[in-house]
Amino acid sequence: MPRPVRKAVFPVGGLGTRFLPATKSMPKEMLPIVDKPLIQYAVEEAQAAGIEQFIFVTGRGKTAIEDHFDNSFELADMLRARKRHDLIDAINHWLPEAGQVAYTRQQDPLGLGHAVWCARNLIGDEPFAVLLADDLILGEPPSLKQMLDRYADLGGNMVAVMDVPRTETRNYGVLKIGREDGEVVEVTGLVEKPDPEVAPSTLSVIGRYILQPEVFAHLGQGHFGTGGEIQLTDALAKLIGGAPFHGFRFRGRRFDCGSKIGFIEANIAFALEHEALGEKLRPYLRDLSRNL
Ligand code: UTP
Repeated sequence: MPRPVRKAVFPVGGLGTRFLPATKSMPKEMLPIVDKPLIQYAVEEAQAAGIEQFIFVTGRGKTAIEDHFDNSFELADMLRARKRHDLIDAINHWLPEAGQVAYTRQQDPLGLGHAVWCARNLIGDEPFAVLLADDLILGEPPSLKQMLDRYADLGGNMVAVMDVPRTETRNYGVLKIGREDGEVVEVTGLVEKPDPEVAPSTLSVIGRYILQPEVFAHLGQGHFGTGGEIQLTDALAKLIGGAPFHGFRFRGRRFDCGSKIGFIEANIAFALEHEALGEKLRPYLRDLSRNL
């Protein structure tokens, strides 16, 4: 029986350069999809998967994230005075309990691998999840829950995967695939951002991971890889051949909210699903499409 996954790491230390100037003084992870910041979707997904401890790896200019996961007494008092109990619920019902959240700073944004390594002392010697808020996934059950359900049988390391167009492999960590068993594939190799001609497959890593603590030893070597950053993929590649390592084809629709187009698509998709907005947006989009 694999050890349970109780902790999740949320790396939010990146610079978000693709969203400048919006991210000059606001964390990318606080950009809203309709009315909820990206990071809240990720935390709610972890909560739905039974995660008990939430570890944020932050950086300079990210204090809005800490404030978002704190009680806002003044605002709650004002809403209470105005009898807006619906809004009090909207700002409170998803707040983690006191002591469930921890923050550590990545002093330099040296890459995703480095951000995860910064959480090593807060994780200790147990398996953990990593969620990238930029990868927003609409799935039922939520994607991390789907993964943890399979992890309960398989143990080891697991990454969420999906097929991408071959022309896009240089934006992803790409799998070399062994045996396949439905939604689960055996990982025999991992390449960070390969050119389409040399990519071992089109099955690519999406921002959900279940990792064993052994990964920290590899991350700690501080190897700078593709793009001059300490890449998580490079450390993961070194785990292959040890504990079981699987890719998990999650069921759901994924939006790359780290890119402008993915962010816009997510806003439209979530607005269409929204009970108050959907019916207003639909005729607008129909009109628009007639003139395209
Ligand atoms: P990205 O590759 O999207 O980088 O990071 P970025 O800096 O956030 O954004 P761009 O490319 O400049 O627009 C993927 C995830 O890894 C985190 C980011 O916060 C994001 O959640 N990250 C990245 C860190 O925490 N630290 C880093 O040094 C780099």
